Amino acid sequence: MPLGTVLTLLSLRQTGKAELPPLIPKPNLVERREGFFRMTASTRLVTNGSGRDAATLLSRVTKLGRVVSDGPATGTITFLIDPGASTSPEGYTVDVDAQRVLVKSPTAAGLLWGAQTLRQLIAAKVENFKSPQFWRIPGCHIEDAPRFAWRGLMLDVSRHFFTVSEVKRFLDLMSLHKLNVFHWHLTDDGGWRIEIKKYPELTNTGAYRVPFEPWDMRKLRFPGRDQGATYGGYYKQTEIKEIVRYAGSLGITVVPEIDLPGHAMAAIASYPELACRQMDMPAWIKATGLLTPNVVCAGRESTAKFCTNVLLEVMSLFPGKVIHLGGDEVNTWSWQRCPDCQGTLKERGLRDSTDLQGLLVKRLSAVAASQGKQVIAWDEVLETAAPKDVAVMSWRGEQRTVKAAREGRLVVASPTDPCYFDYVYEANPVESVYAFEPVPAALRGTADAERVSGGQANLWTEWILDFAKVERMAYPRAVALSEALWSTNRNWDDFSDRLGQYWPRLDALEVQTKLPQPQPQADLCFIDLGKQVQFAPSPIPGLTLRYTLDGSRPTAKSSEFPGPILPIKPCTIRAAYFDTRGRMSDDARVECLVQPRVNLPKFTQGIDILVYEGEGLPIENVPTFTPSYGTIASLIQAEDVPSKGKPFMARYDGFLNIPKQGMYTFQMKCWMPFRVKLGGANLIAGDGEMGVEASRGKVWLKPGLIRFSVLAESMNRRAQFTLTVSGPDLPEGPIPASWIYRRKL
Ligand code: ACM
Ligand code: ZN
Repeated sequence: MPLGTVLTLLSLRQTGKAELPPLIPKPNLVERREGFFRMTASTRLVTNGSGRDAATLLSRVTKLGRVVSDGPATGTITFLIDPGASTSPEGYTVDVDAQRVLVKSPTAAGLLWGAQTLRQLIAAKVENFKSPQFWRIPGCHIEDAPRFAWRGLMLDVSRHFFTVSEVKRFLDLMSLHKLNVFHWHLTDDGGWRIEIKKYPELTNTGAYRVPFEPWDMRKLRFPGRDQGATYGGYYKQTEIKEIVRYAGSLGITVVPEIDLPGHAMAAIASYPELACRQMDMPAWIKATGLLTPNVVCAGRESTAKFCTNVLLEVMSLFPGKVIHLGGDEVNTWSWQRCPDCQGTLKERGLRDSTDLQGLLVKRLSAVAASQGKQVIAWDEVLETAAPKDVAVMSWRGEQRTVKAAREGRLVVASPTDPCYFDYVYEANPVESVYAFEPVPAALRGTADAERVSGGQANLWTEWILDFAKVERMAYPRAVALSEALWSTNRNWDDFSDRLGQYWPRLDALEVQTKLPQPQPQADLCFIDLGKQVQFAPSPIPGLTLRYTLDGSRPTAKSSEFPGPILPIKPCTIRAAYFDTRGRMSDDARVECLVQPRVNLPKFTQGIDILVYEGEGLPIENVPTFTPSYGTIASLIQAEDVPSKGKPFMARYDGFLNIPKQGMYTFQMKCWMPFRVKLGGANLIAGDGEMGVEASRGKVWLKPGLIRFSVLAESMNRRAQFTLTVSGPDLPEGPIPASWIYRRKL
């Protein structure tokens, strides 16, 4: 322990000063001072105009105090603009003693962060206490400033819609953690969510889709609200302004995203003339009706005009300097076939279709510049000859951050790992988020590093149906992100201790933090084997495990799980954890069934496989299609299917000859939808949820033949599948060919 620390500890003991409450993100410098300041109903919060939002915030949270523009130097909480308070624009100082509280910063934003720090210095119960008499603020001296200027969270309101009050709640929690950029993903294939007066159909038609779950691009339809398009919503311009104002009062800048030219299915559904002309779709696309083009035409002046008009209207609503123009995952398939796109390409002497995107970005960034704004776009624009003043949001790895910075662009780092908060916690755990480093090693120590203005985490909502899940996916990861982007002195052990102490504040705010999912000992139970159904002990105290036997989702009223149970007839057990506030975890499912008898007079090695070529076939309908061909396989992996190199769905049907009794774990690696069945029941299933790298299913098996089938989708190199197994005396590996059997004809 350094000597300074020893001395501090000694002096704390001698003066009897209690520790300060946990502060997140951790300030640069914190010193405990004598005593406490008592904040009461008559405490005046003194500020000139610039500190008004900070003072109002503290008064609103504490439910005490009066905001005034003048007052004495003692007995008050003062928010003061002071250019000398910090060299950083958002820096601030806090000084608390028994007589007064003083917060100083060069900017209104810094005063707000000072107010949020004061809030965290007050007991956690401040967050939900109804009628306080007073609060104690412990004496201290704090000097603080953020490491990065862009500390962002993105919310996708297109795939699923969230209300104005839900968005405000999202902003409240961001501000508490000094996150200062709200990236609002307002348009995408799932719906157009911002009123544009010049183009009313964008919201009349494009804001409402035919409801379906789970997420499946191929099911997107926008026939109009009176034709069954009942899911959706949008923000009126008055609501947009209200949210922008609210965010501003919390120190947050709103960066709207209008995603163009791809991810535009809702816009195209509203104005079909935005799409390319004369696309000659391949037969398999026509047959299945699968590909709905989601890219606007890049060849026609009328489309560019539409984009310009939308951009102008959007810019008039958002006072921030930066506008996000999307640009990700543009499928140039239609551009390569459209006479208008090809005409423009030749006329302008462009290299290929990708440069058509560059042309649009160039035009729109000039429109933005004419209004004093700057465009940011996803890192795909690095490949499109986009102008150098276009900033980049890098999501596909560090090398794009490096490339963008070296080209002289501003960059925000938002890599899928660990910044995609729609990915499951197993894929992007809190500890990885805490370790997030926006500046790649290749840039460190160079002038280009200065161009990395910060980092951001994203909540895409294909798989997030309601706001409770938004919070569950964001918290506690966003708490870790806040410190990763703010603090210069990170330490995981120290943070995880502080997060534990900080948890009561999240609880008092009723943040829908992530609860662990129950872990069954086996996912499938053949009841003739006489094995009990049991769950691993809860990793967090204070949770109740509740369950149902009829396949319905457990609720807070379901029976408590009594301990190991022995099923005697077929049933589906579903179990979930509930906390004292009635919050529920994801549920776990255990199928209990009688193992069907296999009566095979003749069988032989290998497994039958039917292959359906084509992209994204709906998994539940696959058996009704005509297969492209059939063959025999001896391994369950995409690499072994003759169609490799093309997208396809594989359907395996046969038997496994289990060598000995015991617990077996099957593991499927597949980013696309899949099902693995044993004895006719799902052992493992996936719907292509984001970030799920491997899914496991455990089952107790007896020796002998059992029916076995796999349905799995493969999309060329982008997504493959492999199935492995481990069991008694069997290390994890591919299912042995000697287990795999088919009926002998
Ligand atoms: C993205 O995830 N498509 C930016
Ligand atoms: Zn076109």
